[in-house]
Amino acid sequence: MVCIQKKIAVDMKNFDDFKNFVHEGINRCIIRCDLNLPSETEDLSRVYSIKETVHRVLDLGIKVILISHYKRPSKSEAFMQKFSLSAISEKVWEILEVNVNFMGTNIFELSQNSILGEVTLLENLRFYEEEEQNNDVFAQKLAKLADVYINEAFSVAHRAHASVSAITKFLPSFAGIAFENEVKQISKIRENIERPYTAIIGGSKVSSKIDVLREISQKADYLVITGAMANTFLTALGHKLGASIIEKTYIKIAQEIIKASKAEIILPTDFLVSSDINMPGVCFDINDEVPENSSCFDIGTNTIEKIKSTIKISKTLLWNGALGAFEFANFDTSSKEISKYVAKRTKNNELTSVIGGGETIASIKEYKNEMTFVSTAGGAFLEYVSGYNLPGILALQSFNIS
Ligand code: 3PG
Repeated sequence: MVCIQKKIAVDMKNFDDFKNFVHEGINRCIIRCDLNLPSETEDLSRVYSIKETVHRVLDLGIKVILISHYKRPSKSEAFMQKFSLSAISEKVWEILEVNVNFMGTNIFELSQNSILGEVTLLENLRFYEEEEQNNDVFAQKLAKLADVYINEAFSVAHRAHASVSAITKFLPSFAGIAFENEVKQISKIRENIERPYTAIIGGSKVSSKIDVLREISQKADYLVITGAMANTFLTALGHKLGASIIEKTYIKIAQEIIKASKAEIILPTDFLVSSDINMPGVCFDINDEVPENSSCFDIGTNTIEKIKSTIKISKTLLWNGALGAFEFANFDTSSKEISKYVAKRTKNNELTSVIGGGETIASIKEYKNEMTFVSTAGGAFLEYVSGYNLPGILALQSFNIS
């Protein structure tokens, strides 16, 4: 994780600045979007989120070049079909309601003249190791394809990668409409939080959210830890959870977080347990030893009630990460019940609910439109909400238009 500094600064160039900047000779715009869609869940909000910016750029008579990463191919997996953006290109076309011309040509071999369509989608940026190295030569190569750059991928703003950061050294650079809205909405809760403030952090890995867990445990009033990552915390407290996913190397860190937390930490006290994720679960109390061949796939009714009663006394809720294995019908009860409850309190103006992360969005999908704000970002959302400045935002601040 890149944490440059912990201060609030939101003075970046936005879409209005872009419109004022546009002049004769600006013919092509690179738009960095995030087409890293959670494939298992089919949440397409990241595609919908770029639609307005793309159309408004086209309305100005400017051609659009869409660039994005997709998943995390290793060096040996570069250019493999399963990581190609070609598979997503039709979906993008359908949602944007504009012809999208996919160009799989090696980016190093592309020139402005080879890009012909109104909207062109280039191949997965992570096929080039230079992308993650924030390499200037690669960034310049991308920059040469256009006259101006818009970042419409807030969800990648926490990555100091060439298409997010270095590229802004070579092109006039602006935030897209959705990017700016994400920053505005999330800034509201990171600057002026109404208490009691509860954070629900779930998902499978402590390792991917460790800094954020530390930060939030210092800022929130209640920190609910769920999903598979709760297993590591419960193991740290001496519980036996059978074959459940546990990150052994993080047990000590989990102990430290529990000890240093200013927030009251709420962990599951009961579970739905099964030896097969496709079979219904049996309810286990935390003090029952889970059999060696079985895993905890969802939280139980007592934990659901505890989370609801915590939300009931809260004014602000931050939620990132799934509560259980919601993709399986036998284990989606907690996600359904809690999202319904959060939606109800939000609707009654009793709660500000800010939700982020593709997996989280998928797990609350029925109630998505009833939350105060739903971010398309996961990691970037968590880092920004925790108070870190993100490389993608800083890059849009340092650019000087004149
Ligand atoms: C995300 O899904 O959070 C973004 O697309 C960033 O992906 P990454 O974690 O692979 O950098």
